[in-house]
Amino acid sequence: MLDSFRFHHIGYAVFSLDATAAIYEKAGYRRSETIFDPLQNVNICWLTKEGFPTVELLAPVDEMSPVNGTLKKSGVSPYHCCYVVERIEDAVAELKRQKYIVVKKAAEAVAFNGSRVCFLFNKDVGLIELVEEPAIMIS
Ligand code: NI
Repeated sequence: MLDSFRFHHIGYAVFSLDATAAIYEKAGYRRSETIFDPLQNVNICWLTKEGFPTVELLAPVDEMSPVNGTLKKSGVSPYHCCYVVERIEDAVAELKRQKYIVVKKAAEAVAFNGSRVCFLFNKDVGLIELVEEPAIMIS
């Protein structure tokens, strides 16, 4: 990772957005609208609560959704951590030097109103997502 990273959210693989979100809503989280994310081939929603880390729920839409592997192996569980970066190309170049592999190249994300995201993997860190400023979530 990089010293300049700012934590943004933790993404959870879930079977059902409604089933999991209901539990968070009871605990005072606000749930966003549901969005289809074509980059990850999942439906997602945001869960936010003042003073708590933002949670993203990712539910499969078909057999091709990448979260299926996680769900089969571990059930509902953390899938990625996301960090905000100023310039995604610079961050990716540096992470490649640190032995990260690009899993999904930088592309505009619906869930962030068009800010670019990318996914990288490192065997000692796991899957991380980068989102470029301004990283404003749909609400
Ligand atoms: Ni995410």
